[in-house]
Amino acid sequence: MANGREQWATKLGFILAAVGSAVGLGNIWRFSYVAGESGGAAFLLIYVLCIFLIGLPVLLAEFSIGRRGQADVVGSFHNLAPGKPWVIGGVLGVVTSFLILSFYGVIAGWVLYFLYSFLTGAAVGLEPGTYEGFFGEFIGGTIGPVFWQILFMAFVVSIVYFGVKKGIELANRIFMPLLAIILIMLAGYSLTLEGAGEGLSFLFAPDWTAFADPAIYASAVGQAFFTLSLGMGAMITYSSYLPKETRLPSAAGGVVVLDTLFAIVAGIMIFPAVFTYAVDPADGPGLIFVVLPEVFNEMGTAGTIFAIFFFFLVAIAALSSAISLLEVSVSYVMRKLEVSRHRATLMAGIAVTLLGIPSALSQGGPLTEFTIAGLPFLDAVDTLTDQYTLPLGGLVIALFVGWGWHKVDALQETGLTETVIGNVWIWFIRLIAPIGILWILWQNLFG
Ligand code: PHE
Ligand code: NA
Repeated sequence: MANGREQWATKLGFILAAVGSAVGLGNIWRFSYVAGESGGAAFLLIYVLCIFLIGLPVLLAEFSIGRRGQADVVGSFHNLAPGKPWVIGGVLGVVTSFLILSFYGVIAGWVLYFLYSFLTGAAVGLEPGTYEGFFGEFIGGTIGPVFWQILFMAFVVSIVYFGVKKGIELANRIFMPLLAIILIMLAGYSLTLEGAGEGLSFLFAPDWTAFADPAIYASAVGQAFFTLSLGMGAMITYSSYLPKETRLPSAAGGVVVLDTLFAIVAGIMIFPAVFTYAVDPADGPGLIFVVLPEVFNEMGTAGTIFAIFFFFLVAIAALSSAISLLEVSVSYVMRKLEVSRHRATLMAGIAVTLLGIPSALSQGGPLTEFTIAGLPFLDAVDTLTDQYTLPLGGLVIALFVGWGWHKVDALQETGLTETVIGNVWIWFIRLIAPIGILWILWQNLFG
């Protein structure tokens, strides 16, 4: 700790934190509604391609920037390329992570509310088909969504405030495997439902005409960045707490594979239920909050127990992702304003919570009519980040590692010097990823 910065205790601690950042609402809530809106199987195929062709190379690039830069996302770019415009990548990262966290807290608040409602029995034993109304009434309220958002953000802020790395590492070590087990059990149950066949073909049998629609590619890239926590400095910040010895490529591979498995199992859990309960897969962000409670309800008492476990574990997964999002700003504010971790956490935490309130009130609540570019506040912030600032951040990162940095330095940092994998990686970062991202940005802007 030559420069007095904090460090991970072990390599496993780092990998768990990175997996904790990656696995979150993106795999369950966001993956299912985006896949549902984008036609299912065609989307899944393109998404998996994006994960391996763009996501994995960019993740490795972020790990190398952070570990070599040894600073927050802006500081890392600054340390590696002083006085060069690459630092824009860092600034974009701070802005994007801040915007994402503002609405991430809102959705995580919904999760907490469902946990609470199954615990108290308020969501137990309703008439089949009425969960849509139950959900709509809650998110359309005024006090409710804001209260649960603030409660969730209070957990995030208190963990980052105390910097309890032990706590984060431990929580990930225990709760991630539990979440995996619950998801697999629920997916198994879903496969016994009447709509299982239809659900599986929706998810795995592509409609080939869908590939002609450029919008699918754009959603797939946006989802790939979101789900791997890329393009906004979370992975740069986390890897900046790494000692020199850690091998980066295996860590990156592990994160990508686990994150993708979580999403696919979540899909197997959700889509059979979607078709069993005749919900429209393109229903949007409410999908899991409407469909899964119907399933839990159908399962009787066991379902209530499953529901409690499920929403609890999803809340924990969201917590570890939100922590990494807040850490980007906190790490930046600490260095930039020369304040303590405590102060930086309170400043960033309160500001981002306030920014989330209009999102909490925009889904049927009092701010529903207040739209930006025709979208309610939450949807506008989500679209702005996943269609524009995330890919843009990823582009700057890829171009920097591919062209702005010396090739030897980049390869050295990953330990891939003179290897085939290293050379393949460099060309993915130099050409494939930038071309892919540029094309998507073009589609999103002018398509
Ligand atoms: N990857 C997280 C998820 O899938 C969300 C996230 C995005 C976390 C960006 C950190 C940074 O839920
Ligand atoms: Na994810």
